[in-house]
Amino acid sequence: MTTTTAIILAAGKGTRMRSALPKVLQPLAGKPILQHIVDAVEQANIDQKIIVCGHEAELVKQTINAEHLQWVYQAEQLGTGHAVDCAMPSVTGDKVIVLVGDALLITADTLSRLIAQCPEQGMSLLTAIAPDPTGLGRIIRHQDGSVCSIIEHKDASETELCINEINTGIMCLSRNVLEEYLPKLRSDNAQGELYLTDVIGLCAQDEVVINAVTADFNETMGVNDKQQLAKAERIYQQLQVERLMQQGCTVIDPSRLDVRGIVDIGMDVLIDVNVVLEGQVSIGNGVIIEPNCVLKNCKIADNVHIKAFSHLEEATVGDSAIIGPYARLRPGTVLEKDVRVGNFVEIKKSQIDEGAKINHLSYVGDAEVGKNANIGAGTITCNYDGVNKFKTQIGEGAFIGSNSSLIAPVTIGENAVTGAGSAIAKDVPASALGIARAKQRNIEGWKK
Ligand code: UD1
Ligand code: MG
Repeated sequence: MTTTTAIILAAGKGTRMRSALPKVLQPLAGKPILQHIVDAVEQANIDQKIIVCGHEAELVKQTINAEHLQWVYQAEQLGTGHAVDCAMPSVTGDKVIVLVGDALLITADTLSRLIAQCPEQGMSLLTAIAPDPTGLGRIIRHQDGSVCSIIEHKDASETELCINEINTGIMCLSRNVLEEYLPKLRSDNAQGELYLTDVIGLCAQDEVVINAVTADFNETMGVNDKQQLAKAERIYQQLQVERLMQQGCTVIDPSRLDVRGIVDIGMDVLIDVNVVLEGQVSIGNGVIIEPNCVLKNCKIADNVHIKAFSHLEEATVGDSAIIGPYARLRPGTVLEKDVRVGNFVEIKKSQIDEGAKINHLSYVGDAEVGKNANIGAGTITCNYDGVNKFKTQIGEGAFIGSNSSLIAPVTIGENAVTGAGSAIAKDVPASALGIARAKQRNIEGWKK
């Protein structure tokens, strides 16, 4: 059985990005460019994975993760041909698929197709028709249609610049072919580099079989600058949103929903405009998400209604809960069934039991709120003394008067009530009224 090695070229600085962050670590949909490529290679079940790093190598290594990755260091970036050459001593596969570290929309399917088209002693080359081929290597073909060579943009003549079939930078070669032709590369070109692309011309001269495989340009585009990064982001987002719509999600405007992670979605979900879904998000059936909401690593059960401008992070929301508008659920928030969280309410690391209501202007942190409890407007759990955090327990059916300060650690018993404006520092027994505020005095006939 033939084995395959993938070499991903990621040593370049990416000067055109004009960024302190190496190009291959620039995020697309919240994930580094290079990680997208590594994930596609992983999905294609390629036997060996080698990444050539150089610029900010340590940072790149720390950031990217996948199983059984091998790293090769290219100290000086002398061109794509040189980068592949650096990796050759580590290659064990019979075939070598080379990927540029900036063509991140590539799919595992296309990689498998390219590998399948690579003859035992030859190569396959992934090409595409570019709407604007500026900056890219052009595919030069013989009259009979066979591939003759690749000319880089900077080395191309006026007529060659008119060709819009481009080199995607992704190719598959038998290892023997690479071993034979890499040493023959010369840097007598506009950029003074050893171009991997020159292997193609040399192969064609010697009548090595070159199978050109075409792909959709959008899938193969390399991102060299921030404009191309934004373009790739839009293409990627369109694909993500199309996938959600295929699963039955109603998306009010597909260009105004962004997915930066993995979304699992039920039926009859409606997502309004300007919503961002990040990380691992699962959304049940019949959920409504109103405009301008951000959900990051959340689990949302069925029939939940998230009203406009709400921000949820690492929260779990039970069936039929209603949240927002303008609610903030921070990590560790668990809302059970039928909970209501209203405007300008912040909840952190708290368990809110079935049917409880926190409807206006509150902070609830490190708390347990019992079933059907009602937390009045402006209630605050004072959970932090500047050094430690303490818990607040509120029993089932309790009624917390508006503007109560619950000074933790404190327990409010079942069906207990706190008077509005109280600073509650001591436990309130079940069914009792806790009131802690200055008595009102009226001074008659008072003048300024
Ligand atoms: C390259 C191709 C071009 C193709 C285009 C597709 C060459 C000479 N040119 O051009 O034909 O149309 O990709 O996007 O191959 N790298 C290294 N070491 C180096 C140089 C580059 O690891 O010494 C890496 C870079 O980090 C990058 C990749 O190789 O991930 C491609 O380099 P880049 O500078 O983006 O090449 P392009 O000019 O886009
Ligand atoms: Mg590039």
